[in-house]
Amino acid sequence: MDREINEIIAQELKRQNQGIELIASENYASKDVREVCGSILTNKYAEGYPGKRYYGGCEFVDQIENLAIERAKELFGSKFANVQPHSGSQANAAAYRALLPEGGKILSLVLDDGGHLTHGSPVSFSSHLYNFVHYPLTNGHLDYQKLLEIAEVEKPDVILAGYSAYPYAIDFKAIKDICDKVGCYFMVDMAHIAGLVAAKKHMSPVPYADIVTSTTHKTLRGPRGGLILTNDEELIKRINSAIFPYYQGGPLEHIIAAKAICFKEALSKEFEEYASRVIENTKACEDELARLGAKVSGTDNHLFLLNVLDTYGITGKQAQVRLENIFITTNKNMIPGDTLPPNKTSGLRIGFAATTTRGCTKQDAEEVARIINSYLKGELSDEEGQKRVLALTSKWKNIEEL
Ligand SMILES: Cc1ncc(COP(=O)(O)O)c(C=O)c1O
Repeated sequence: MDREINEIIAQELKRQNQGIELIASENYASKDVREVCGSILTNKYAEGYPGKRYYGGCEFVDQIENLAIERAKELFGSKFANVQPHSGSQANAAAYRALLPEGGKILSLVLDDGGHLTHGSPVSFSSHLYNFVHYPLTNGHLDYQKLLEIAEVEKPDVILAGYSAYPYAIDFKAIKDICDKVGCYFMVDMAHIAGLVAAKKHMSPVPYADIVTSTTHKTLRGPRGGLILTNDEELIKRINSAIFPYYQGGPLEHIIAAKAICFKEALSKEFEEYASRVIENTKACEDELARLGAKVSGTDNHLFLLNVLDTYGITGKQAQVRLENIFITTNKNMIPGDTLPPNKTSGLRIGFAATTTRGCTKQDAEEVARIINSYLKGELSDEEGQKRVLALTSKWKNIEEL
């Protein structure tokens, strides 16, 4: 293989194996998923949908895409699925196009409070095509009464729920009731919690939302890609034409095959147990940090926020860079009401989806909390910190074995 690329991959492999991966949107895909991503399916053009392609020779990729669709529907209990979005962002773009005209109004959570770039950020296409207004949080939590009041005033075309940095359970039924009261569509972007929803550890949005979008590579542990679900026969037609030909060209059938494998893996008992352990480990780390006096958000899911500014007197950016010295990967993140800009932030977002895949236990998650706390307090040298990190990661599974 290409020597330069191979050498860099070897270094990345070492980084992934020796480090503690706490980025809440990351995970380790299984060997089957990874191998199919690199399979000969990458050679095939298949613009269109199964049975209605613009190219010949699609009889086998049709079978693969149909399998992926059937498994997605079975996993999430939806009537229809589109498995072609190249990413979560493309899935959201297509969902918006299916739901409302350009210039239409979407009521969402702002990025600073835990929303995603595609939920109306000025630097994303979304805010240029649609008119975004935002609902606030109360003490970091969704406030359904306030959401109703704002929806009654703003009269949006769509209310959007589902977030990138929200550590608590979401009551999708309560938001659906608000949508019904104001007469608007309900869209959920479950990218972060899809694995928890699949394992029935979080309320499913599928019975309530008009469209549900997702990624397949976060808690769902599949290949990097997107997914759209709906129970509405009219909407799936609009979603399909928004994905192809409006936003995308040929589908990535190698990734779609990997999505099919990921959906099957997520239907297993082992995956259900895995999702329970993710929640347990996240809580264990968060509880231990709280016990040690750190300012943390609380958690019901796979992530929590650590206020490093109030706890250790440093910015999220500084904390992220420092932790990399001892092989701990996190990301700086704004906390609700943050006074610092997004390139500094007061917080870190910490998640346990990835480490749990490697075999992190509850006791390990508590040790992770102690390492982070001692290191950011300056009580632990780089050498001591690295030793304690390697003591954990050396007993976890290597990522090639997953
Ligand atoms: C809630 C949410 N939606 C969408 C996305 C976008 O996914 P992608 O990076 O695949 O475009 C993310 C990714 O961070 C996300 O957190």
